[in-house]
Amino acid sequence: MGEAPMPDNDVLVEISDLKTYFFLEEGTVRAVDGASFSIRRGETLGVVGESGCGKSVTAQSILRIVPDPGRILQGEIVYHRRRWHADGSTLTERVLLTELAPYGPEMRAIRGAEIAMVFQEPMTALSPVHTIGDQIMEVFIVHQGASRAEAREKCIAILERVGMPKPHRVADSYPHQLSGGMRQRAMIAMALSCNPSLLIADEPTTALDVTTQALILDLMRRLRDEIGMSIMLVTHNLGVVAEMAERVVVMYLGRVVESADVDAIFFDPKHPYLRALLKSIPQFGTKSRRRLEPIEGSVPDPYNIPPGCPFHPRCPDVIAGLCESVAPEGVTLAHSHYVECHLYR
Ligand SMILES: Nc1ncnc2c1ncn2[C@@H]1O[C@H](COP(=O)(O)OP(=O)(O)OP(=O)(O)O)[C@@H](O)[C@H]1O
Ligand SMILES: [Mg+2]
Repeated sequence: MGEAPMPDNDVLVEISDLKTYFFLEEGTVRAVDGASFSIRRGETLGVVGESGCGKSVTAQSILRIVPDPGRILQGEIVYHRRRWHADGSTLTERVLLTELAPYGPEMRAIRGAEIAMVFQEPMTALSPVHTIGDQIMEVFIVHQGASRAEAREKCIAILERVGMPKPHRVADSYPHQLSGGMRQRAMIAMALSCNPSLLIADEPTTALDVTTQALILDLMRRLRDEIGMSIMLVTHNLGVVAEMAERVVVMYLGRVVESADVDAIFFDPKHPYLRALLKSIPQFGTKSRRRLEPIEGSVPDPYNIPPGCPFHPRCPDVIAGLCESVAPEGVTLAHSHYVECHLYR
């Protein structure tokens, strides 16, 4: 309470040099290949990058739900858990998520309660054979030891909180009886039922129409302010990032190639990859009537990540004799603007 801002105390999750690979017969997919970034308390962090750049696998790594044959090989994910005492003081505990057994009791207690997740497709998170009410009530019964009657009451309250019309009727419905937008609301209700400190939202609105998308984003923003949670928002949509995020992480081939405050991302982008991404959306291009310019080339095969800077084969600013052979080290410019590119050494 009333404490001076302390940068270290502001960090909720800290990821350093994370490597998550998939070992397939055809070869090794370096899905996350030395990514480092942090998520601060109460912020919305946007995570962007082309398809296949490791955004979802990073999210799965934090939640420790990387599917077989994937494995975290290296790096640390630290969760700074904060507990409040009755007298208003706080205690921060350092939990090394990468050391916990993925399906052991500690990780189970964290997943779904302290760190919750919403996906693009609610049907993958919701059980088709249980009512929405039973699924939300289970969270209160399992994580909070509530009785059935208490759990039912809390379930209706949380459905009301996410703006669900006719909450009693929705509670007694099965997921397939609801529209896509209503299912997404139900999944958000379930994710928020334990007041998580972090919500990981992986393309949460991609499958929805524009109006529903705006409603869901607005809901997430409002709930974030009420609960004070952080949001890690994974999306392809830079417009959504501009509207929602305070800071942004740009991923390319399993690495964080740039991270900065949202304004710096849009108005002072450094990495040629980010510049190309921004140019590919017309409203953010420098000239208003320019044609859509997709990024030259395509994302290389993840079995064969190029040596040196992984972006060099597609980079308009490539420095011959350097970028093809030497991997750029990260540089932190003013205002914690981080970039991995030889142009800024
Ligand atoms: N279960 C899996 N088995 C094998 N390879 C996987 C698996 N999941 C992801 N990958 C590979 O890991 C790399 C990173 O995938 P990831 O799903 O994290 O990308 P993404 O950035 O989330 O892409 P998108 O924007 O399309 O969702 C890709 O090359 C992908 O093919
Ligand atoms: Mg993904």
